[in-house]
Amino acid sequence: MKVVIMDSVSTAYNGTKALNNVSIEIEAGERIVILGPSGCGKTTTLRLIAGFMAPDTGSISIDGTLVSGDGRIIVPPEQRNVGMVFQDLALWPHLTVRGNIEFGLKARGVPAGERTKRTMAILELVGMAEYADRRPVELSGGQQQRVALARALVLEPRVLLMDEPLSSLDQELNVRLRKEILKLHEKLGFSMAYVTHNQDEAFDIATRIIFMKHGRIEAIKTPGN
Ligand SMILES: Nc1ncnc2c1ncn2[C@@H]1O[C@H](COP(=O)(O)OP(=O)(O)OP(=O)(O)O)[C@@H](O)[C@H]1O
Ligand SMILES: [Mg+2]
Repeated sequence: MKVVIMDSVSTAYNGTKALNNVSIEIEAGERIVILGPSGCGKTTTLRLIAGFMAPDTGSISIDGTLVSGDGRIIVPPEQRNVGMVFQDLALWPHLTVRGNIEFGLKARGVPAGERTKRTMAILELVGMAEYADRRPVELSGGQQQRVALARALVLEPRVLLMDEPLSSLDQELNVRLRKEILKLHEKLGFSMAYVTHNQDEAFDIATRIIFMKHGRIEAIKTPGN
């Protein structure tokens, strides 16, 4: 079953084309990795799936519902059941780890008791329960990555978008967290679109790799084939 269908999408920023006729389909439980040089349109692709911007032409469907089309957003980001880990993490500096994770649950009207339960469960899962009361500045880079991941996962997204989530980490931690992401994926069963410009990381994570260049798809490969 196809969870995300991006069909012939093109988009531009102030007249400069960023994506040119891009079509991507993500199957249930699949892990696609988008690989390509800086500026090729990776983040733009994720933004479009998340619903932070509308395609100029083409359409996007999630779980069989048209979410963007005819140049506009039809279903807003908070109703898409899509989680995103941003390139710069975008943790709220004034909130604790707990506060960062609860934020999305609060916005969705989840009652306090259940919020706490779900927050602690996901922190446990990413190995960060003991840091619940710290602020982001009091955490290492790897710990901040785990919090960003937990913040997206606590909303139980059908699709998890990750924008170079491990690029700021040293090689050893990068490899370790890759394995943790794969474990979480196995356990929770979301579909995944993961952006990187690290080949090695891409081949480790992907069930399918999409090679992008200058706003277009150049090739699609299945690791191991
Ligand atoms: N807000 C914006 N306004 C104008 N142009 C933008 C904006 N965001 C991105 N672009 C341009 O769109 C193109 C695609 O950008 P995008 O951020 O998708 O690239 P990327 O593949 O994620 O690159 P990186 O690996 O550096 O993160 C680039 O040419 C970029 O300069
Ligand atoms: Mg980017």
